[in-house]
Amino acid sequence: MVSRELASGVSSVGAFDFDRRIFDELIPLPEGTSYNAYLIRGSEKTVLIDTVDPSKEYELISNLVKLCIERIDYIVINHAEQDHSGSLPMILEFYPDAQVVTNAKCRDLLVALLHIPQERFKVIADGETLSLGDRTLQFFITPWTHWPETQITYLVEDKILFPCDLFGFHAATSELFITDEAWAYRSAKRYYAEIMMPFRGSIKGYVEKIRALSPAMIAPSHGPVNKNPQFILDAYADWTSDAVRNEVIIPYVSMHGSTAKMVDHLTGALIARGIVVKPFNLTHTDVGELAFALVDAATVVIATPTVLFGPHPSVVSATYLANALRPKTRFASVIGSYGWGGKSVETITKMLDHVKVELIPPVMVLGEPDEATMQALDRLADEILKKHKAINIV
Ligand code: FEO
Repeated sequence: MVSRELASGVSSVGAFDFDRRIFDELIPLPEGTSYNAYLIRGSEKTVLIDTVDPSKEYELISNLVKLCIERIDYIVINHAEQDHSGSLPMILEFYPDAQVVTNAKCRDLLVALLHIPQERFKVIADGETLSLGDRTLQFFITPWTHWPETQITYLVEDKILFPCDLFGFHAATSELFITDEAWAYRSAKRYYAEIMMPFRGSIKGYVEKIRALSPAMIAPSHGPVNKNPQFILDAYADWTSDAVRNEVIIPYVSMHGSTAKMVDHLTGALIARGIVVKPFNLTHTDVGELAFALVDAATVVIATPTVLFGPHPSVVSATYLANALRPKTRFASVIGSYGWGGKSVETITKMLDHVKVELIPPVMVLGEPDEATMQALDRLADEILKKHKAINIV
């Protein structure tokens, strides 16, 4: 659609996707997304950093044609996922002399996913450099900045970092650079929760290594370019730390109102004890917002009615997702109602095998909650407050 220079000889040549509303058929994209690709013209070599989603490959080609790029020497692929690599086969046809520069694991995935011929690759090692004449690229292999083959690329002289998925966020905006950091913070935190949170342990180390490079600019592959790297590095240092907040997340479903009454009562009891509470009715919840809330909440209370002999399927789905995202949640409990028995608590707690949570005794009630149920929920709120005090977040 359009290319813009973020520094002399460094152009953004990717594509906007204003209309896209879901990613991986799972994550809502309220603001669309972009697939950023960058062209660097060195005195001797021209490089394309990443490509775009195959649905937008003609926009990438069109941007390159408008810039009169007749030769590309290297195409750096930082990540094999198709929203960044999917246009590679077409670009390789357009530029038959171009070599694909990436690490061995990424090469293997590109061969498997896109059938790129082995002879098109130039395989790099961690820390290796590549001269473009007057400029130098340096590559750092950073597994699990989404997939196991991910790497980041640094343009040494200009101090521009190209981290692909890492530090980006899903937003289609005509602005090349971040101009509203409050908006960017929220969008980036949601994206971190959805994409990066399962790899918190690895990413924590990368943040400090990247800080040591003192980049002047971070040019991710989703969302606008960041000219204040300190802002996103500080945010990631916080999100990936072990610190949790005095917050309780309550994902819930209610079919006939009993579980909703319990959620309402527990919400009030927690607020009265000075705890921030975020209930999510899973019938309407945007899972991106639930993931966002999970980034730093100390406690999750899962609330479910009973369907046949177990938890409601929407609760099962949300619990599966929360477990897969591996939040740093410290405490969990289950509340809800049942008609003739069931194994909701057992099923839900078994599903939480990827999170290191301490389970607080559940409150399950037969039928309509009564005064004794409400007193049990008050005791649960007391117990949560006690746990939060014990870790010094109250
Ligand atoms: Fe934006 Fe992991 O792809």
